[in-house]
Amino acid sequence: MRVGILTGGGDCPGLNAVIRAAVRKGIFHHGDEFVGFMEGWRGVLEDKTMPLTIDTVSGILHLGGTILRTSRTNARKKEGGIEQCIATIQRNKLDAMITIGGDDTQGVANALVQKGVKCVGVPKTIDNDLSGTDVCFGFDTAVSIATEAVDRLHSTAEAHNRVIVCEVMGRDAGWIALYSGIAGGADAILVPEKPIDLDEVCAIVKERHARGKYFSIIVVAEGAKMPASGGLATHGDKVDEFGHARLAGIGQYVADEIEKRTGFETRAVNLGHTQRGGTPTAFDRMLATRYGSAAIDLVHQGKFGRLVVLRGTEITDIPLADAIAKNKTVGDELLALGRGLQPILKK
Ligand code: F6P
Repeated sequence: MRVGILTGGGDCPGLNAVIRAAVRKGIFHHGDEFVGFMEGWRGVLEDKTMPLTIDTVSGILHLGGTILRTSRTNARKKEGGIEQCIATIQRNKLDAMITIGGDDTQGVANALVQKGVKCVGVPKTIDNDLSGTDVCFGFDTAVSIATEAVDRLHSTAEAHNRVIVCEVMGRDAGWIALYSGIAGGADAILVPEKPIDLDEVCAIVKERHARGKYFSIIVVAEGAKMPASGGLATHGDKVDEFGHARLAGIGQYVADEIEKRTGFETRAVNLGHTQRGGTPTAFDRMLATRYGSAAIDLVHQGKFGRLVVLRGTEITDIPLADAIAKNKTVGDELLALGRGLQPILKK
């Protein structure tokens, strides 16, 4: 078969491992040929391709980023975009597409499936908020990077008797904040799922101070809501093609409020794109390899309009439409785990 592959949305450690696994399994096991589309759906709209062969996917397993590059180009927002994608897919004589991306990328894939294009999706986002799968590749790497940062912030915060607020990614869900906050021993973890209670955060900091702990670490997800307005902290008013605002600033806001209310010197750090860059962890390489291999197998089983997912320890698949229906947010049990370790929090 001739199979197209693309990577869309924000990049994510493990993208290259997915591409490599699909191509190697496809060529060695199924006798396939591959076409790589550059920069997500933009490459399909503009017919910008690169060959995907055993040679071109060699040596990429451990590399961050994506050899296909990526974009947030939304084919559904372009006049005639879906038809243009179909024309490119036909021109390249493709039997199927493997789309590696989050809900936005899979939303376009699902629109193509409705028009008869044979797509199989692979779930990708460091935010880990895609429904239907227990874990997205890239999440483990992001959590490892954020946890190391939280560890490092402890010693400098302690040396200076400071509060440090560490802002991590997580637009709609607080998975990275919760995991890195708990793994790193943060004193408070603020997530999009729960309104920020600044009185409570300040009470935690003061209680620590009162028992001789003159420093505190707070982890906040970029998508946690501003307490006064309930809105998001954004940088400017630009939105990308999928309508997402550029998030930034909730960490600085929380830091300023803590300093004002407690009098303790407080700093904010935004980890930003460091969480997405660089080499994937062994866990993510493994998961990405399982996803890539399963995706090309699904193509050969003729199971289109499906997304490969991890359920427990098994790789299986679900309808693409189910995955994009709603975000997977952090549940009460995990939220309670973080809160349960603090002396003054009752619930
Ligand atoms: O991929 C999702 C994400 O990591 C969000 O957490 C974040 O808001 C966004 O990407 C930022 O990406 P970019 O700066 O590339 O728009």
